[in-house]
Amino acid sequence: MGRVVGDEHVLVDPDQRAGYETDWTGRFAGHCAAVVRPASTDEVATVLRLCNEHTIAVVPQAGNTGLVGGGVPRQGGGETRPTIVLSMRRFGTIGEVDASAMQLTVGAGVTIADWRRAARGAGLDTPIDFAARDSATIGGALATNAGGSRVIRFGTMRQQVVGVEAVLADGTVIGSLVGLPKETVGIHWPSLLTGSEGTLAVITAARLRLVPYYDHVTTALVSLDDLEAARALLAELRHRLPSLDSIEIVFPDAMELVAAHLDATPPVAVPEHGVVVLIECADHVEPTDDLLAVIAGASGVRDTAIATSGPRRHDLVAFRDRLTEAIAAAATETGTPTLKLDVAVPVASIGHILAVAQRAAERQAARLIPFGHFAEGNLHLNVLGASAPDEIIEAVLSEVAGVGGTISAEHGIGVAKTRWLPLVREPGDLAAQQAIKRSLDPVGILNPGVLEPPP
Ligand code: MLT
Ligand code: ZN
Repeated sequence: MGRVVGDEHVLVDPDQRAGYETDWTGRFAGHCAAVVRPASTDEVATVLRLCNEHTIAVVPQAGNTGLVGGGVPRQGGGETRPTIVLSMRRFGTIGEVDASAMQLTVGAGVTIADWRRAARGAGLDTPIDFAARDSATIGGALATNAGGSRVIRFGTMRQQVVGVEAVLADGTVIGSLVGLPKETVGIHWPSLLTGSEGTLAVITAARLRLVPYYDHVTTALVSLDDLEAARALLAELRHRLPSLDSIEIVFPDAMELVAAHLDATPPVAVPEHGVVVLIECADHVEPTDDLLAVIAGASGVRDTAIATSGPRRHDLVAFRDRLTEAIAAAATETGTPTLKLDVAVPVASIGHILAVAQRAAERQAARLIPFGHFAEGNLHLNVLGASAPDEIIEAVLSEVAGVGGTISAEHGIGVAKTRWLPLVREPGDLAAQQAIKRSLDPVGILNPGVLEPPP
């Protein structure tokens, strides 16, 4: 490997490997023989060809911000082959913004924040944003079909990717970075690879869509009596405000936790059984009056805080953006890694799923910290101090499937949820998925165990 990527980019020392072998939640960890850090597509192709020939398992990784154990080596599961972590962090190249096509080509190791900086430098913006923006990378975001807060307006990563370059397990390079908006010449690699969690190919670069940059952003934190009131407000906002950029939901326990973490008082009074929504509107003209008019006409509104200027907006957004960090800090105190569920259900079923999760957590005297992306019914159910995580997962995911929801909205399946795949995929579906996997990776070296249905 050293001859391919340079000796200094093959990390075998346990201290050097450690940061690559454990995910940031501390819930998933394993050992690898080496961390290999290629810097070009040719190097990735050669490394994969060698691994394929010698039956070495390959775990692709970049930002290591994954939440389902899909980006770190794993123990057990019958895996006896040596494993390498293929770190894509050196794929940091950012191309020239094509302003008329509104597209940009970036390397798989570019962070979401750097992608956004490049877009903004050209007077444009990125359609995707989420709290882990400073570490999460394009490769990982594509692998998990990440979403975040702007999905209501622009969709998930799958809708942003107009071209990919990727390397198959045998070293074959596939794809194109031209970014033609219209093309019908067979399988669309970006569609196939987005969400495949590094099991079909290693993405080295992507051509991504950009969106307009809006000068005027208004942020409102609104507390409401209950979920029904929040749902009615959501409908009004969607119908009446084309500038609606995001609507996030924070439940009282989550608000309390993040406020304590920030050492701040919540900017709005939070009713005991109420909810808080964080609304952002962005436009080329000031959207504040239109937003305030919708909020004023809504019923069940308890309290509103609104901001248009930088620092004040930042303060409001912190109560949503810094939730994950607040939860991680609380988990460190309990000494048990957080159980993180990422489900999506029809918005009308949110209350039911929340009640199920609450009961399941209470049975173990654990603490549920729920928040999420409201418009997509995407709930992040974080459980602190769970003594039997699988029982909570089972209780929640089976109910989620029962209301027609999904067991993963944006974090992926990884190794954390493979056992529950049959809840949301028919046997024929899973068999077809496995057939595609076998045809592209017959030796099965790419991210073994991930997205793999139970036997
Ligand atoms: C978020 O929405 O903040 C992310 O999905 C991360 C998380 O769920 O902790
Ligand atoms: Zn999220």
